[in-house]
Amino acid sequence: MAVNEFDFTAVEKRLGVSRRTFLKFCTGVAASLGLSSNAAMAMAKAVADPQKRPPVIWLHGQECTGPSESLLRSEQPSLEHLILDLISLDYHQTLDAGAGHQVEEIKKKAMLENKGKYLLVVEGAIPLASDGIFCKIGGETMVDITNEAAEHAAAIVAFGSCASWGGVQSADPNPTGAVGAPQLLSGKTVVTIPGCPPNPANFIGTVLYFVTYGKLPPIDEKGRPKWAYGRLIHENCYRRPHFDAGRFALEFGDEGHQKGYCLYKLGCKGPETYNNCPSLEFNNIGGGVWPIGIGHPCFGCSEGGVGFNKPLFSLADVKTHTPPNMFPSIDDREGGSGISTGAAAITGAAVGLAVGATAMAAKKLDKKEHDENQGES
Ligand code: SF4
Ligand code: F3S
Repeated sequence: MAVNEFDFTAVEKRLGVSRRTFLKFCTGVAASLGLSSNAAMAMAKAVADPQKRPPVIWLHGQECTGPSESLLRSEQPSLEHLILDLISLDYHQTLDAGAGHQVEEIKKKAMLENKGKYLLVVEGAIPLASDGIFCKIGGETMVDITNEAAEHAAAIVAFGSCASWGGVQSADPNPTGAVGAPQLLSGKTVVTIPGCPPNPANFIGTVLYFVTYGKLPPIDEKGRPKWAYGRLIHENCYRRPHFDAGRFALEFGDEGHQKGYCLYKLGCKGPETYNNCPSLEFNNIGGGVWPIGIGHPCFGCSEGGVGFNKPLFSLADVKTHTPPNMFPSIDDREGGSGISTGAAAITGAAVGLAVGATAMAAKKLDKKEHDENQGES
């Protein structure tokens, strides 16, 4: 069906967005997923079809509710409408109007009626120590709640670093024995969307893929969707030309910091963290802010074994040394780089603003080198 033949009236009415905004959103998600404009149309049709809304059971373990907040506070037009209309949110401990035994009964009923059909979203870590007593809801441990909900789920998504690998709760010495959903549910496929908070667009894209194609997108060995976590931040960062030219900020507020130089020597973990923050940014797809963009080193919030584990001041392991070909080449004039700060900033802005830059850049990446690097990690 051609775009013009598609009836957007119902979509506009239901989601409260214009046809243009709605199509722009679907095209942006499809581009980020590395899919064609045909896929964007398939996604648009899937969202428009109320019959395709999967029932969702959303659990909260040990966490700050950051992932839900990130999703609901998003400025991207109608993201919250899209997520609330894209799925049938049958149980969410923070958003449910009901409380106590009433809402727990609703959850059990929803799981029974939708056996094998519902999407399970886990937010927060799951404590295993002392028989799981450090996190109980409605008298049951998070361990039992998660195991029960996972048994008949059509698909499982761990949203946020805590649910993906334990997050801050699992930092040494991990007194509650916190783990992520994949560790508890070993043997089941769990798609992880790590980040503290995770980018809402990565969640929306994953759910949109599920709604459209009835399956979850391809994932890496840590359960992360490849379209979102396929590249190191360091390969996509607009400060990369400064890294390659050896121009670093050495202290917060020093001349290098003010000029926008690389933050590696301030402990930036971008060289060992896989995420699409440089291309999606936060607060609004392609137009918001992100840690390195506001002058703070990446602390590897989405990378298990890095975020909340490596000290902020420690230097990152540099996994890739070859400069990506998406940046201008570096020469050594003017004491380090032929690129002016302005030129680097312009390049970075262009990269950052392009929705789907990650997908485009992924094509340029030597996949073999990337796979080898992942194997080393
Ligand atoms: Fe960007 Fe950090 Fe890499 Fe520097 S070390 S280029 S700030 S990701
Ligand atoms: Fe987290 Fe680093 Fe991105 S701290 S938000 S992975 S830049």
